[in-house]
Amino acid sequence: METVLSGIRSTGNLHLGNYYGAVTNFVRMQKDYNCYFFVADLHSLTTYPTPEDLHSNVKTVLAEYLACGIDPEASTLYVQSDVPEVSELYLLLNMNAYVGELERTTTFKDKVRTQPDNVNAGLLTYPVLMAADILIHRSHKVPVGKDQEQNLEMTRKFARRFNNMYGVDYFPLPQSFNFGKELLKVPGLDGTGKMGKTDGNGIYLVDEPEVVRKKVMRAVTDAGPTKENQEMSEPIKNIFSLMDIVSTPETIDHFREQYNTCKIRYGDMKKQLAEDIIKATDPLREKIREILADDAYIRKAAGMGQEKARASASKTLREVRQIIGFKPF
Ligand code: TRP
Repeated sequence: METVLSGIRSTGNLHLGNYYGAVTNFVRMQKDYNCYFFVADLHSLTTYPTPEDLHSNVKTVLAEYLACGIDPEASTLYVQSDVPEVSELYLLLNMNAYVGELERTTTFKDKVRTQPDNVNAGLLTYPVLMAADILIHRSHKVPVGKDQEQNLEMTRKFARRFNNMYGVDYFPLPQSFNFGKELLKVPGLDGTGKMGKTDGNGIYLVDEPEVVRKKVMRAVTDAGPTKENQEMSEPIKNIFSLMDIVSTPETIDHFREQYNTCKIRYGDMKKQLAEDIIKATDPLREKIREILADDAYIRKAAGMGQEKARASASKTLREVRQIIGFKPF
């Protein structure tokens, strides 16, 4: 069975885009692949060196993924800092990573621009830590967004370099996992592009119904169609795309018809969309709340993940040490 791995940022709640765009696919993948999902809390230190809420952020992420259907028995769901083997592999890989290539990474250059007062060595070697995350389980596939493609390319480079340097065929070269036609694009509420974390664009799974209503009612629209079957503007297409995800076919047909005959009232459509979003996310919101209140369950899930992750990681590290030439006396 192939191994799939995904790292999850430890800051920020899941929004509808994360859920329908990625997490539902993770849930489906669990039975076809050997899945590793981990919370990248070490990586967060490159940007938030002294996070007051490090622990609670990690807890929230775990609770949200569990609530969405990640099964801690079927998959390995763990916290990056719970697996010290990752840090040792990171150290070893650092010896074969060149400063020049790290400095040329887009994500590094972005950070130099956005946090000029904290250009730390961890930022420079961020792709090496990411490679360690991936290679520690000798992963075959990694589902990543466009912004992480280059980091994954670096992982392949480090894996290839390790294999060549020691004349082994040890690390598989991880490929980006493509959800293909299953990849659902979830648009945001501000009329442009996909749902993200920027203000006024996203709806979080934990948003209370009143918050969902307020956000949806503020979604960008246009002046309305003036002739029958008029081509839709981007913001209107987006609202229909969201309806495609959460509303019934009858509701969607109804509003399409209203649009095509120029009778549509965007206020009514948004009211309906808000209620349909609330209905779709209600069970998740409930479940997240329930899990967050159940420390014993989270502890058990994370403990089980740590145990499975360390078993796999220590095996890799033992073999890597041997390949490099460390020997016990
Ligand atoms: N860098 C990723 C992000 O910002 C998170 C991440 C860390 C990751 N390690 C990973 C993703 C390993 C995939 C594989 O989203």
